[in-house]
Amino acid sequence: MRSAKDFFAPLAVGAPDPVREVPARPSRMIHFFDPSNPKMAAKVPDLVGTVDVLLGNLEDAVKADNKEAARRGLVDIAKVTDVGEHTQLWTRVNALDSPWVLDDLTTLVTEIGDRLDVVMVPKVQGPEDIHYVDRLLAQLEARAGLRRPILVHAILETARGMANVEEIAGASPRMQGISLGPADLAADRRMKTTRVGGGHPGYLVRQDPTDGDVQGPRATYQQDLWHYTIARMVDACAMHGILPYYGPFGDIQDVVACEDQFRNAFLLGCVGTWTLHPVQIAIAKKVFSPSAHDVAHARRVKEAMGDGTGAVMLDGKMEDDASLKQCLVILELADRLSA
Ligand code: GLV
Ligand code: MG
Repeated sequence: MRSAKDFFAPLAVGAPDPVREVPARPSRMIHFFDPSNPKMAAKVPDLVGTVDVLLGNLEDAVKADNKEAARRGLVDIAKVTDVGEHTQLWTRVNALDSPWVLDDLTTLVTEIGDRLDVVMVPKVQGPEDIHYVDRLLAQLEARAGLRRPILVHAILETARGMANVEEIAGASPRMQGISLGPADLAADRRMKTTRVGGGHPGYLVRQDPTDGDVQGPRATYQQDLWHYTIARMVDACAMHGILPYYGPFGDIQDVVACEDQFRNAFLLGCVGTWTLHPVQIAIAKKVFSPSAHDVAHARRVKEAMGDGTGAVMLDGKMEDDASLKQCLVILELADRLSA
């Protein structure tokens, strides 16, 4: 059975360590489209080869009256579109307690199961949700005679799901990854925000009044609302060898804040993000690919470290086995992306 492991390859240098794995197939941007929207559907062929993942969304943002049209639209698109080697086809089905999800899974696996790489499951509460989807997929795949198992991706968007994130990450060999769902998670946690991802100007710390540098108004520093959640999700994913992702950034016009939020996620260990608008595609590509500067530095450290043990000084900084391991993560990712 194909498992999430097929998305990974061990690092080339050093002892194999399942925690230090990197994605074999890039998924820097999971680009959402609404298959019930003819304008968006018409643009799908142009996105093939441009985005790493095309995701036909059936859940939130698709009106209740359009659920069937979206499902049908995705089937039609998948049947006529060859997404090629470089773009994966995913879907986000409706929530497991909705009236639509059974038909979503049954129709999609039966009609286009051979074309679907990953099913994204929203509002996952615990491992039992993944077990249910896993068994249902197994039945549907067997009935459809599919040879290639469809992988599962969970959205972390409830407080209970958050509390169970480690069990969710390890719930099935089908688990491919987990995304942060900041909008639903904020609501479920009863946070007092009204936006889809990103920061908030009210979530800040203020320069201490006793700071000797204070001249006039005290400086404020906005904090990242999602730091704890992303870090915890990344740990759960790393522990189980699956991939963590940032989710949606709803302020399409604020490309600067979008890039910052994506970069925070990248630095914390995420391999990609959702893109909701074409303008976010290039941002995701830039952020989730290691920079030329980082790659050059990583190569220097690797060279300087020789057999990979001991310590050396480079530009006045100490490098050792552990900083080499970080550099190898960067180099491996760069290699994968250029393959
Ligand atoms: C995504 O589905 C979210 O709720 O943020
Ligand atoms: Mg959501």
